[in-house]
Amino acid sequence: MFVDSHCHIDFEDLAARGDALFDTMREAGVSHALCAGVSIERLPGVFALAETHPNVFCSVGVHPEHTEGEDPSAERLAELARHPKAVAIGETGLDYYWHKDQPEWQRERFRRHIRAAKLCGKPLIVHTREAAADTLRLMREEGADQVGGVMHCFTEDWATAQVALALNFYVSFSGVVTFKNALQIKDVASRVPLERLLIETDAPYLAPAPYRGKLNQPAYVPHVAAEIARLRRIPVDEVARASSENFFRLFTGARR
Ligand code: NI
Repeated sequence: MFVDSHCHIDFEDLAARGDALFDTMREAGVSHALCAGVSIERLPGVFALAETHPNVFCSVGVHPEHTEGEDPSAERLAELARHPKAVAIGETGLDYYWHKDQPEWQRERFRRHIRAAKLCGKPLIVHTREAAADTLRLMREEGADQVGGVMHCFTEDWATAQVALALNFYVSFSGVVTFKNALQIKDVASRVPLERLLIETDAPYLAPAPYRGKLNQPAYVPHVAAEIARLRRIPVDEVARASSENFFRLFTGARR
């Protein structure tokens, strides 16, 4: 069985599929999924999915891209994360690709999320894009290693992965690892210790080959595992077993 450790099945295109999405997921051998929160406004929809589906967990956070909507305090985030299916704080982090001016509010928001994770004792789901050095610096300064977490949709180099691993973080690979030109990511995916590796779709985005460019869904996460298995020259079952065990070890609030 596979676990999709990060997706956005509350987004319209996927939510519109209703139960069919979960049927397809089950048929593909994907037992659980974590629906990552991206804003406070969308949280009711995320919670509703987690409440209706025993195999769906969720997280509470405001995505670093978002400029509009509520920008909650650490206390408010921690309070919202008391929801029984909320197993993490995030997704949070830094994104200098969408915000090339590298605004201070992004770093301040990220710090608040790390503090929230420490307040509620839940791990972090970290997004980083063109901002690896600052992301790691803030994680270090705020003591993110005390709660740990995951570097989601990892697209950085091995040196960055090593620092994240040393900070008590897991590394999660998305469909990007299946892309032909993603040599750096393939390299990292072959080197991360198996007991610290997660798999995800980040659906509806970043569908793995052979679905690249199409609408992504949790049922496609076995394609991510298959590519990692190929790179590491191990059976795909081993990647499935290890990444699923890792998921439940990291997200202690998630029950099988
Ligand atoms: Ni995401």
